Amino acid sequence: MERTFLMIKPDGVQRGLIGEIVARFERKGLQLSAAKFMLVTRELAEKHYEEHKGKGFYEPLLEFITSGPVFAMVWQGDNVIALTRALIGKTDAIDALPGTIRSDFAVHTNFNLIHGSDSPANAEREIGIFFAPSELVDYEHAIQKWI
Ligand code: TYD
Ligand code: MG
Repeated sequence: MERTFLMIKPDGVQRGLIGEIVARFERKGLQLSAAKFMLVTRELAEKHYEEHKGKGFYEPLLEFITSGPVFAMVWQGDNVIALTRALIGKTDAIDALPGTIRSDFAVHTNFNLIHGSDSPANAEREIGIFFAPSELVDYEHAIQKWI
């Protein structure tokens, strides 16, 4: 079973969309394995977004992600990375398909509500940045046999 790192960004928290967004992953049938409401330090943000270092949006992105609390999560399930990226929608809200989180709630690329890992390697790397192994909860998720 695959794992991914999802993080509701400061705009999603401030707009009161934590419940709305988490509900979409729950209803999909994915399994929650960890969650944490927290502030992201500059150091953590630099590690998380290291692939974007040097790009024009990098500094504003770090300022944004450290500007207020985030809701960090680990979810698991078959194909969870591709499935959650599909539910999240394209980076730019203009390109995101209707029904996706970014299409339904976001207007601008820089305030696009949620992060989702884009590959198994990045998922494991990002989970390791935000969570200790002991924070990942292993349990039997009863509905999995119906999904
Ligand atoms: P990226 O990893 O390309 O997007 P995604 O979140 O869909 O994986 O970029 C990381 C974040 O950087 C993105 O969610 C919002 C921000 N960003 C901008 O502000 N401007 C941009 O032009 C791009 C590409 C990203
Ligand atoms: Mg990305």
